[in-house]
Amino acid sequence: MSGAMEALRGFVRDNAGINLGADKDYLVVSRLKPQLTSWNVATLDGLVDRLRAQPKGSLASQVIAALTINETLWFRDQKPFEALKSVIIPDLVSRVPADRPIAIWSAACSSGQEVYSIAMTMREEEQQLRGRRFGILGSDICEPVLARARSGIYSQFEVQRGLPVQRLVKYFEDLGGEWRVRTELRANIEFRALNLLDLPQNMGPFDIIFCRNVLIYFEPPIKKAVLASLAARTRPGGYLALGGAETTLGLTAAFTPLPGWAGVYRKTA
Ligand SMILES: C[S@@+](CC[C@H](N)C(=O)[O-])C[C@H]1O[C@@H](n2cnc3c(N)ncnc32)[C@H](O)[C@@H]1O
Repeated sequence: MSGAMEALRGFVRDNAGINLGADKDYLVVSRLKPQLTSWNVATLDGLVDRLRAQPKGSLASQVIAALTINETLWFRDQKPFEALKSVIIPDLVSRVPADRPIAIWSAACSSGQEVYSIAMTMREEEQQLRGRRFGILGSDICEPVLARARSGIYSQFEVQRGLPVQRLVKYFEDLGGEWRVRTELRANIEFRALNLLDLPQNMGPFDIIFCRNVLIYFEPPIKKAVLASLAARTRPGGYLALGGAETTLGLTAAFTPLPGWAGVYRKTA
């Protein structure tokens, strides 16, 4: 069993960057065991054998998805959304050609709360945007949470986590016990399954990247590689928002902290 645990930890680290210490064995067991029957294997050792035989493909994706931590909420930490409104939009409006849409990417968006929080902020700043269009890409390695993000349907419990009631009423339809994001808010949003360790070459460039609360799961060499890859997909003068416990310090000089806005960075000139 401990050989299987070690192999599974290695598999998730090598393929998704996620570093699950031995103290997370309970998580591995509790998330994978209930799915073994549907994968047609009897034990975790059997699962390891199957993954060795087929390290890419559907089973591998499902195992990775099962081991992700998808905790998220609306307007998480608030600061990045305030920065968007007070600093980022005014700067972009002053220098981005009026006919080019502003490109935004939420790079580990889980079930979509971050994406829709960005969309609500952009809608509410229509006056500042002066007719400028925008597009938002939401991506995650975990297909089941992306399916939820795409559906735009949230439980009563979920909408109570960080979403002010005026916004709930304005942007959601009441389905009776659940709430669905209105079509207007979803209009310029696209969701796509992407692994931050293996991004397509031709992505972007983006004006703003939100990559929040995912680098915490990676070891420093992976954090460095991911930040380099994000920098390569950020326009000159573009912005990066990280999570509250994340930093670029000691990892890359490609982004410079935006003074007064903890967690928000600008691509270094
Ligand atoms: C804790 S959630 C953060 C969600 C949101 N950004 C927020 O801050 O509320 C972390 C997300 O990162 C995703 N993730 C983990 N490893 C990934 C990888 N290698 N590529 C893309 N997404 C990944 C997980 O599936 C999970 O949904």
